[in-house]
Amino acid sequence: MIATCPPRPVSPLRPRLAVAAAALCTVAQQTAAWHLGPLGDRWRHTVAVAECAAELAGPLGLEADVLVAAAWLHDIGSAPAAVATGFPPLDGARYLRRELWPVRVAALVAHHSGARFVATARGLGRALAGYPRETGLMPDALTYADQTVDPAGRRVTPDRRRAEALRRYGAGSWYARADHVRGPHLRAAVARVERRLGG
Ligand SMILES: [Fe+2]
Repeated sequence: MIATCPPRPVSPLRPRLAVAAAALCTVAQQTAAWHLGPLGDRWRHTVAVAECAAELAGPLGLEADVLVAAAWLHDIGSAPAAVATGFPPLDGARYLRRELWPVRVAALVAHHSGARFVATARGLGRALAGYPRETGLMPDALTYADQTVDPAGRRVTPDRRRAEALRRYGAGSWYARADHVRGPHLRAAVARVERRLGG
């Protein structure tokens, strides 16, 4: 069960050191709470994305531990401890590898929600490409969860989420510049998940 209570004041464990003590997603939850808990809406968004991922894993036949861990950590690049380039998917992936998280989890974070399109627009495409990009329902499910939860943690439609993000970032933002390729990518990922859920 996913906790929605305020984060506990305990420092995060390194996953390789904690592997005998807790599932990956439990360590991910603790890590996210430590770093994002003080950030208000970012934490509320993260909790709701993790809840959505946990709901999707079973019906989609995905490894829940990996998907939910990636969901807890998908915005870890916004944490002060991780910020470097200012592009959260890349900063998050780099932070996670420094902290000994599995490559698969870091790579899911690096590429979630069409990050490569924005990275290319920002000149960070090569750096992001250093993380293997998984295909299939696992990254689709993570993107679905992120794109159906707004910045305050409320469930929304993907279209509403995308429109809100474009408004928030602004017409001249990297997100707006990449939207002509990122937008269709997000819609396709959401459609694949809905098709599988509907079937
Ligand atoms: Fe997010």
